[in-house]
Amino acid sequence: MDIEALKQESEQEIKGVKSLEELEAVRIKYLGRKGLLTNFLKELAGLAEEKRRTQGKLANTAKQLFNELLEQKKTELNQQKEMNEAGSQVDLTLPGRKSWLGHKHPITQVLDEIVEIFVGMGFEEKLGPEIETEWYNYAALNFPEDHPARDQIACFYLDDKYLLRSHTSPVQIRVMEKQKPPVRIIAPGRVFRPDAFDASHAPVFHQVEGLYVDENVSLAELKGTLEMFCRKMFGENVKVRFTPSYFPFTEPSADIAISCVICDGAGCKTCKNTGWLEILGSGMVHPAVLENVGYDSEKYSGYAFGMGVERVAMVKYRIDDIRLFYENDIRFIQQF
Ligand code: DAH
Repeated sequence: MDIEALKQESEQEIKGVKSLEELEAVRIKYLGRKGLLTNFLKELAGLAEEKRRTQGKLANTAKQLFNELLEQKKTELNQQKEMNEAGSQVDLTLPGRKSWLGHKHPITQVLDEIVEIFVGMGFEEKLGPEIETEWYNYAALNFPEDHPARDQIACFYLDDKYLLRSHTSPVQIRVMEKQKPPVRIIAPGRVFRPDAFDASHAPVFHQVEGLYVDENVSLAELKGTLEMFCRKMFGENVKVRFTPSYFPFTEPSADIAISCVICDGAGCKTCKNTGWLEILGSGMVHPAVLENVGYDSEKYSGYAFGMGVERVAMVKYRIDDIRLFYENDIRFIQQF
């Protein structure tokens, strides 16, 4: 047989091989003691010098190639065998899969940050239930029955007795009931209101409540603490404004605003041209509230404050629509 044909035939045969046993048989067929290539090489001895040289060269190349293909096939078959032995259908040639690392939702991040700032100032974190009674959500906080103030923060009633809390202020009552002054707590959590979704309202959102009651707690301390908080949260240069306000459970009450983070007080769309962004409600705890939990309002005084976490996050990250927080669009969430 001519060497070229032998070369081609041997290559074809290796390609068709399906097992290591078959491969060994092919090796013997061509390179065994009486193999076709072996014989061809042996027969070269009888040829004339020139022919021997050219044919010899071709035969050696063919032999080399044959050996290479043999090795390649062997590796391939061994891999396959290993895979079958492992009993798995794992395809080792597939590209790897990227594993995704999750992270906290922006609201959780901001909430943690707020709590951490107050914990750093000596406040203790406390939680309260999301299902409340009228007593805790309203009456104990000095909301008179049938008073329009109840509509200010209207709520979802579950039945005659229970409702979804419409603010975190009831946690103040629950803690004071159980604990004697000094009380210094920070209470984060979800609150619920029958508001339709729009750019600045959501029926479920988060608040953080603060309360400090002891002997001789003053309005100056309230001011100092909340100013400190604003600077830590929004930057050292932020200006903080206190204006009189009204809440049934505090007297006097104050709204706290920071200089607009967008226009720095010059006036823009975000601050509705006022230069200020309101972020906190606060005040000195009303004596009636202290009496409702059995505290002596002659002896003790305190301050309280509450803020919306979504609102703080929107101001901090310059987000103009609260709904973005709940849509969980990964392109939005990933940016935090
Ligand atoms: N509970 C109030 C609200 O949801 C916020 C608030 C205002 C909390 C003043 C307070 C406070 O503790 O002192 O609108």
